[in-house]
Amino acid sequence: MTEEQQVHIRFSNVTRSYGSGEQALKAVDDVSLEIMHGEFVVLLGPSGAGKSTVLNLMGGMDTAQQGSVVVDGTELFGLSDKALTNFRAANVGFIFQFYNLIPTLTALENVALTRQINRAASDARAALDDVGLSQHAQQFPAQLSGGEQQRVSIARAIAKNTPLLLADEPTGALDTATGHSVIELLQALCRQQGRTVVMVTHNESYAAMADRVLRMQDGRLRDQTRNPCPLAACGPEALGAILTMAQPEPESEPEPESQPGTRSGMPEQESDPEPESQPGANSGKPEAC
Ligand SMILES: Nc1ncnc2c1ncn2[C@@H]1O[C@H](COP(=O)(O)OP(=O)(O)O)[C@@H](O)[C@H]1O
Ligand SMILES: [Mg+2]
Repeated sequence: MTEEQQVHIRFSNVTRSYGSGEQALKAVDDVSLEIMHGEFVVLLGPSGAGKSTVLNLMGGMDTAQQGSVVVDGTELFGLSDKALTNFRAANVGFIFQFYNLIPTLTALENVALTRQINRAASDARAALDDVGLSQHAQQFPAQLSGGEQQRVSIARAIAKNTPLLLADEPTGALDTATGHSVIELLQALCRQQGRTVVMVTHNESYAAMADRVLRMQDGRLRDQTRNPCPLAACGPEALGAILTMAQPEPESEPEPESQPGTRSGMPEQESDPEPESQPGANSGKPEAC
């Protein structure tokens, strides 16, 4: 495979503004980046930095006014709405903060719906099995915990059978431990199924698990770093191990995920993650590391 074939997503000088004239706000301001096939990329930045806009541009849910967005060789700039719909159906699985499950459908039915969008969708039961939820196939979203609902939404994205998974703050509504197990699941799916995963978060503690970390601020890409040894649960039995490890969730409404170094009830502050709060810290780094 040539280097060009390995590039999954390429942004070249992409700008997405809202409003016009003096009032124009550049949500994404002249961003250029490359994401390779099979990479696990974390996109970090404060609220309003432009992270979701970048993700939506990658997934063909939004279009830029300037620049070029190429995904798997397809230039998205200038595609018709119909062509973008077809692109999304065949190429992108989305995972959202609030799961976006249909409340009147069971877990299995929510996942099986993907077949109506992408005829190449894989078996819904197998996807639920991949995320460790076979036992919950007949339950409705309201009968599942937040972490389980997010895993159903990940199963839905897996079943869609697309090479690219885009996750926007997938842990934002989960308590910290459950959030970590969701990230480990995403990372293991990336490793084991070879999918490209781009995950937006404002939680610095997930940076250590990424192959590459992109940092945004005020619509600009400020920084890119590569982790030579991402913290990972990437052994051959990793996925099974993660699912067995998945911690029980609290009965009560989960607290919003805290920033590393932040105690619940205390104001948020920027600090380095505490060693014990590092996701995947005990789940085994790649042997080469
Ligand atoms: N549909 C919209 N209309 C107007 N402004 C928007 C819209 N979507 C996003 N923005 C603005 O663009 C900026 C970046 O937003 P967003 O990409 O959602 O940031 P993030 O995901 O990093 O919090 C913010 O200032 C936001 O208010
Ligand atoms: Mg956002």
